[in-house]
Amino acid sequence: MLRDVREGLSARPRQLPPKYFYDERGSQLFDEITRLPEYYPTRAERLLLGHCAAKIIDIARPATLVELGAGSSDKTRLLLEEMLRRTPASATYIPVDVSADFLARSAVQLRAEYPLLQTLPVAADFSTHFTLPPHPSPALHAFLGSTIGNFTPDIAVDLVSAVRDRMSPADFFLLGVDLRKNPEMIEQAYNDSQGVTARFNKNMLNVINTRLGADFDTSMFDHNAVYNAVEHRIEMRLISRGEQEVSIPEIGRLKFGDGESIVTELSYKYDRDLATELLTRSGLRLREWFTDETQLFALVLASH
Ligand code: SAH
Ligand code: AVI
Repeated sequence: MLRDVREGLSARPRQLPPKYFYDERGSQLFDEITRLPEYYPTRAERLLLGHCAAKIIDIARPATLVELGAGSSDKTRLLLEEMLRRTPASATYIPVDVSADFLARSAVQLRAEYPLLQTLPVAADFSTHFTLPPHPSPALHAFLGSTIGNFTPDIAVDLVSAVRDRMSPADFFLLGVDLRKNPEMIEQAYNDSQGVTARFNKNMLNVINTRLGADFDTSMFDHNAVYNAVEHRIEMRLISRGEQEVSIPEIGRLKFGDGESIVTELSYKYDRDLATELLTRSGLRLREWFTDETQLFALVLASH
């Protein structure tokens, strides 16, 4: 983290990796975001999964579901229940998430809800090498919630290629992507009227304060989220209110000018061509493309 923060804050424009949103409070704030009226992606993906979970499980026939960035595993229950219906004796779930405490808590809840399901949480950063516990085959590797959108197309290829390398020939990959649409609707999703997204954005400064002993004053930064229609992405920033100095032990004192910004998150919006290109560049083949009537969100099933 020290290296990421040092490099990110000395770059111009300054930037910080979005994985640092997610301590326990950050994960809770994200959960709150998923229930906001303006934040359509979670609702759209849940509705879509409701329609196609049975078909996905019929095609992939997984004994194990591996999920990257699982969070609360809320929507995932639709897939898990289809798995349990077919193979109750061997169904295994491996949620992978960097938010270790939140992951442990949701695993406790899953075990209580689904005593037949083998739940094997893995606290890991999916952008580094990590090992999966032994599990029954075949596996369905899922990356839901459009979390792939938080990575530039080149880094997304690295992440999906790493998934491909973990997949045996009979395994499948399920990717959730938020689709391009009316920019106003997208911008509203990241500028909610209750200010939850603003609190989520500023929470990254609290995480840096806690973990690196920094002294960011969150009231001295404004939330900003703008849709870049050329790059097809939301760009989320924290903008300095006035000139200020922030101290981070082991890094030193950093000066922020009035209006100077830190990019905290990009959220790419996909179309079928970009999703196909991502899969092809990662050595995978698109097998099914599922989308809702209003084309808000898509789920893509792929294999070797
Ligand atoms: N899949 C859930 C949560 C999406 S939020 C949903 O669709 O609602 C993104 C999730 O990915 C969070 O739970 C966050 O903790 C996790 N995450 C973000 N970056 C990560 C990384 N580098 N490694 C592992 N988990 C990560
Ligand atoms: C996790 N990720 C896909 C969310 C997104 O929409 O990019 C994170 C988020 N940022 C602001 N609101 C939600």
